[in-house]
Amino acid sequence: MTQTLTLRRPDDWHLHLRDGAMLEAVLPESARDFARAIIMPNLVPPVVTSADAIAYRDRILAALPDGADFTPLMTLYLTESTDPADVVAAHASGLISAVKLYPAGATTNSASGVRDFDKVRGVLDAMAEAGIPLCFHGEVTRDEIDIFDREAVFIEEVLDPIRQRTPGLRVVMEHITTADACAYVKESDGSLGATITTHHLMINRNHILVGGIKPHYYCLPVAKRESHREALVELATSGFEHVFLGTDSAPHTQATKESDCGCAGVFSSSVTMPCLAQVFDDAGALDKLEAFTSLNGPAFYRMAPNEATMTLIKGTPLQIPAPLTTDDGPVVVFDPARPVHWHVKR
Ligand code: NCD
Ligand code: ZN
Repeated sequence: MTQTLTLRRPDDWHLHLRDGAMLEAVLPESARDFARAIIMPNLVPPVVTSADAIAYRDRILAALPDGADFTPLMTLYLTESTDPADVVAAHASGLISAVKLYPAGATTNSASGVRDFDKVRGVLDAMAEAGIPLCFHGEVTRDEIDIFDREAVFIEEVLDPIRQRTPGLRVVMEHITTADACAYVKESDGSLGATITTHHLMINRNHILVGGIKPHYYCLPVAKRESHREALVELATSGFEHVFLGTDSAPHTQATKESDCGCAGVFSSSVTMPCLAQVFDDAGALDKLEAFTSLNGPAFYRMAPNEATMTLIKGTPLQIPAPLTTDDGPVVVFDPARPVHWHVKR
């Protein structure tokens, strides 16, 4: 008998859409399955002011396929010279849903990020007061810290002190990859949320490094050892209300990934919902998928969940789509490294 699963339409609480030709190509892949997405501001140059966010939102809306039902939730990129008043006004008017903080140098296009956290205290205070969520790329960047430890060190050295100093600041720890982050989120109050990506629920560092280097599994934060992946799956499939989907789908062309200095980022929008259904199915937790993809995120962002629904069907193995064609070059789609038997009903 065919197994089906119907849930409220999902949202993606962390998405890179890029700009220009790349935006044109990847936007339909998200708009097909997701009703809303938090749009990352790490363009070059980044989306820093309200005016930048309005212009970027308009380019996204112009690139939407006819009939698409998709709302981009805009963010501002926090710099050391961000004006608190601009942030508060942008949120009050409904233009932005969150502010993104990249420690300078942490990841792709983060050079304009924060070096000295004292310089953003005024903005963080204003955000706490106005209830504006801060999305945090949770890794320290000091050379001497091992890349596999950067998230755990970040919690202790940066995240916890900032949350203690700015009580009430609503923070999303994004794309968590460690058991340490899972534990920290579980013991925190409702002012801390966390997103988990599709790929971090499916791959560990062996997938990147064993049997030859696999650049299409390389992203930041980098996937950790298997016990961390297991902790992520346990948390995501538990229904815990402060954890939700943020795909961090981050397209780069095949040429820039398959290079002697390959870019960080996994492009997963096209296959995320089938992959997640498989992860939750394998964990015996299909009844918790809707909380993770469609309920917990809106609750944290104080929005209503979507009314429309999506149906998933279990059947033949999913074929991983061919690389997405873009005018910038092909973009390889995430390969989940295990059979996926779920499909989105079209
Ligand atoms: C992202 C990108 O390519 O913009 N890359 C990634 O590996 N996740 C940046 C980010 O979110 O860290
Ligand atoms: Zn990202």
